[in-house]
Amino acid sequence: MSDELARLSEIDRNHYLHPTTSVKEHFNAGPALVFERGQGVYLYDVEGKEYIDGMASLWNVNIGHGRKELAQAALDQMSTLAYSHSFSNFSHRPVIELSEKLASYTPGDLNVFFYASGGSESNDSAIKLIRHYFKMKGQPQRVKILARHRAYHGISIGATSATGIGLYREMAPPLAPGFLHGPAPHCYHCELGMDPASCELACAKQELRKLIEQEGPDTVAAIMAEPIQGAGGVIVPPAGYMKAIRELCDEYGILMFTDEVITGFGRTGRWFGIEHEGVQPDVMTFAKGVTSGYFPFGGVAIRQSLHEELSTISSGTFAHGFTYSGHPTGCAVAIKNLEILDNEKLIENSDKMGEILRKGLLQIEASSPFAANVMSRGLLASIEIVQDKSTRQAFPQEASIANQVFQQCLKRGVIVRPLNIDGTSTIALSPPLVIHESQVDTVVNALAESIEAAVTTSSVSK
Ligand SMILES: Cc1ncc(COP(=O)(O)O)c(C=O)c1O
Repeated sequence: MSDELARLSEIDRNHYLHPTTSVKEHFNAGPALVFERGQGVYLYDVEGKEYIDGMASLWNVNIGHGRKELAQAALDQMSTLAYSHSFSNFSHRPVIELSEKLASYTPGDLNVFFYASGGSESNDSAIKLIRHYFKMKGQPQRVKILARHRAYHGISIGATSATGIGLYREMAPPLAPGFLHGPAPHCYHCELGMDPASCELACAKQELRKLIEQEGPDTVAAIMAEPIQGAGGVIVPPAGYMKAIRELCDEYGILMFTDEVITGFGRTGRWFGIEHEGVQPDVMTFAKGVTSGYFPFGGVAIRQSLHEELSTISSGTFAHGFTYSGHPTGCAVAIKNLEILDNEKLIENSDKMGEILRKGLLQIEASSPFAANVMSRGLLASIEIVQDKSTRQAFPQEASIANQVFQQCLKRGVIVRPLNIDGTSTIALSPPLVIHESQVDTVVNALAESIEAAVTTSSVSK
């Protein structure tokens, strides 16, 4: 380790409380990596070592690192109007222009936007907006949000209450009341113990219905769902699942609320993940890829029909807004990011490279006795690490097998993400949408070798 890296690590260890990190481990060991710059799909640490950012950092750097056009857009906007708010009917050019542009990409008539600084704020905003809508509609009892196990919706109190992963839910109780959870559509580990060939989407059609009926249908405001559950394991639902949710919503007068924080802006090979399902949600949240991580930004899209209805039934102030709602610089960066996604056909590239990635992962699954259950759509993918394929048995937790695979990938210059949820060990992949075929091959080869190496060195592999 260079003197400079040692110096930075020591300061980090003592002065920076890291998000989603073990405080104890970090205080003892300091940072695992200290990055200095990025270019395209690559990140470089302070010692100059190159890594392929196989996760687009936190599933968000869709157009890749080092894009000067976004820096220029921020510079131009900051020099012209660095900040202005949009409380109390104020407005400004970039927020208006972004709203018009976004509406040309969002599914169906999801044409009206509220803005925030990230996914959690956007989800909390959507929850409040939905509850406010029903209150104005004369149904103030309709407050419950029905989410799913393994869902990840963020870390503010509302978003954590909607999240269905124990690690986050248990960190700082109590959570907010009014949130329910049904089964995840995880066919490889079906919570109902059913066979996907014959279940007829029981996780949605039976179990969500049962929950709605038990709670009282007129108390449920929304079903909240990621089109693909990202942090929960990159769970791609079976065909027809989202349509089943739409039908339940229509039957009970519930709003369909999709969280596209990961799946938006090309990640799945379409502009939005829900487009694969041919279903129209009522409310949709987004963040991450809207600015490719160059500026903290997110938002809520609602259907035009809902907006028109709200405009007639609402009274008083919509008393919800962040200082940075519709931040001018965020809007300018988002506009330039959308232009790049579109002009460089990155959605198409996500679809094309996603197919190549999928083939590579399926080859790993076919050749390794420890790799199973490839799930993917576009450049959002996962592969599970199991001890025994015939029983789908995971490695014991103490083997930390997904973390071992992650470490082995790092040695090979590739960043992946280990996900340890409910006793399963999964490796997630979500590279920048600018990735080329040869870079996908490098990721796949590194992963194949890393699984082999992690299992071989694991003391509990046999
Ligand atoms: C599906 C989903 N929703 C919401 C969030 C929360 O977003 P943020 O971390 O920007 O608050 C995330 C973050 O990973 C996410 O994956």
